[in-house]
Amino acid sequence: MANVQQLKIAAAEKAIDYVDNGMRLGIGTGSTAEEFIRLLAIRIAQGLVITGVPSSKRSMALCNELSVPITTLDKMPELDLTIDGADEIGPGLNLIKGGGGALLREKIIATASERMLVIADESKIVEMLGAFPLPIEVNSFGLEATIREIKKVAAALDLAGEIKLRMKDDTLFVTDGGHFILDASFERIPAPEMLSENLLSIPGVVEHGLFLRIASSALLARSDGSIRVIEAKNL
Ligand code: A5P
Repeated sequence: MANVQQLKIAAAEKAIDYVDNGMRLGIGTGSTAEEFIRLLAIRIAQGLVITGVPSSKRSMALCNELSVPITTLDKMPELDLTIDGADEIGPGLNLIKGGGGALLREKIIATASERMLVIADESKIVEMLGAFPLPIEVNSFGLEATIREIKKVAAALDLAGEIKLRMKDDTLFVTDGGHFILDASFERIPAPEMLSENLLSIPGVVEHGLFLRIASSALLARSDGSIRVIEAKNL
């Protein structure tokens, strides 16, 4: 039986089949995306030609280290395919992302892409989003007021749970965009569309980790070594 890391590698390996020569590629963030970057680098060394746009400083550093050619979204604002991990994969390929804190750039890049392919191990599949705390990226200005607004939005949707400011070691976690992250433990999010809309109406909220109707397909590695393919268009 494969361990989780091996499953991440299996999903990343399969994702390489979806990369064609000449592609403009959005490159995700997180441990599964990092496995993908490593495998991509090997294929590039063998002659594959792509240009990547990384979704975080961390992924950018790994691409540079492994000589994966990258550019910025400003120089290449339309992408063919984004390949990225997820923290939860719910019905309709709706996702929770942002466990690694890169949700804003990940969402910008996935939205700029014609297609988004999610790579994960099958344990990320859930019947309802929300067990994974929802990352909400917020402006540092007026943090307390923003938290209150988020609580009001949550209460109006019958959502409760701890809203925790993300820390890294002993200091506040700061995103690549210079913002803070709040992790909201709602446990269940029965109406993600409504929550998304209401959170985005709060001025201090920069973005949240609900990726709704963005992913087009998913490659999920099962513990028996097989890969389950889910296409959003078939859901
Ligand atoms: C990064 O901000 C996240 O959205 C990641 O894509 C997500 O947390 C999945 O990460 P792993 O591949 O490490 O599980």
